[in-house]
Amino acid sequence: MDFTTFVKPSNGGGSGGGDANDGGQKLQFWKHVEYIENHGKQEDDYEYCMTEFLRMSGIYWGTTALDIMGQLERLERKSIIEFVKRCQCPTTGGFAPCEGHDPHLLYTLSAIQILCTYDALEEIDREAVVRFVVGLQQPDGSFFGDKWGEVDTRFSFCAVASLTLLGRMEQTIDVEKAVKFVLSCCNQTDGGFGSKPGAESHAGLIYCCVGFFSLTQRLHLLDVDKLGWWLCERQLPSGGLNGRPEKLPDVCYSWWVLASLTIMGRLHWISSEKLQQFILSCQDAETGGFSDRTGNMPDIFHTLFGIGGLSLLGHSGLKAINPTLCMPQYIIDRLGIKPQRLPRP
Ligand code: FPP
Ligand code: ZN
Repeated sequence: MDFTTFVKPSNGGGSGGGDANDGGQKLQFWKHVEYIENHGKQEDDYEYCMTEFLRMSGIYWGTTALDIMGQLERLERKSIIEFVKRCQCPTTGGFAPCEGHDPHLLYTLSAIQILCTYDALEEIDREAVVRFVVGLQQPDGSFFGDKWGEVDTRFSFCAVASLTLLGRMEQTIDVEKAVKFVLSCCNQTDGGFGSKPGAESHAGLIYCCVGFFSLTQRLHLLDVDKLGWWLCERQLPSGGLNGRPEKLPDVCYSWWVLASLTIMGRLHWISSEKLQQFILSCQDAETGGFSDRTGNMPDIFHTLFGIGGLSLLGHSGLKAINPTLCMPQYIIDRLGIKPQRLPRP
């Protein structure tokens, strides 16, 4: 399908992407495009100002969602690349969420993802980024998020994802030690992973660890059936997924859980139809955007994971998304990267 041929209906409403209708509710395609397009223009908005510390990731969430919808050209490539460049710290090489803030692995990955989307990696000092990431690895294989020394499996994922996108994972970090650390965060009872050794299993962190093993080509180290079972138990009667037992469903877990199951070849273990219905029920039909749960305020974070989840479920009118890197598959193909994925048994 040619994604550049969608024309916004003159009444501004309706769905796009081929007028898809799944489970009773239509994807409010053009409303979401409008929502994301306007997100970066709300400089006086209270919420926008309060989330300054997330700006780089916010741009990644927006560009990725728009690209999956075939509408990336609606954002200004040049000004986004200029913003990303201004956020690279000249001393450490890492990226800050916005100018005047400190660099961190979380925003470094977002910055690299944005640059890959725009095919603009050559615009930055790549070796300085590699030095930043490599310098955060600890003797036990774990990664600090930044100079302040917090350790979390999220940072192990961000480190290997950044280096993979830069084509520099080999001969930079100690992959064996990194693997050993992430494995030490596995909980034998449920096969899941937490943020550090002994921490409770959590679907967001399971995504990070499964993604980590996919990028390091070590999915054989997972107990796929035990972990897959725990993950598919996250589906609730509403069709939505939660991140831990006894928690409410949340659209972002449509990504964390679904992407992990997809990487492990077990996507068919949940009800796709019921999940699509839940995700679509979290759209704001007036403003566009997705919220965490039905009826709540939409935000750009849940909008990416709503669209991304629908893409993993094969919703029509959306480009394929790579489950490991949460980026359009065509970009991963362009970079020649092959994150590991297990076949459906
Ligand atoms: C839930 O957080 C989610 C996580 C812990 C995973 C975060 C993943 C990354 C930072 C890696 C980069 C991600 C991508 C998509 C490339 P939460 O704080 O909302 O948890 P809660 O639901 O328990 O509050
Ligand atoms: Zn959420």
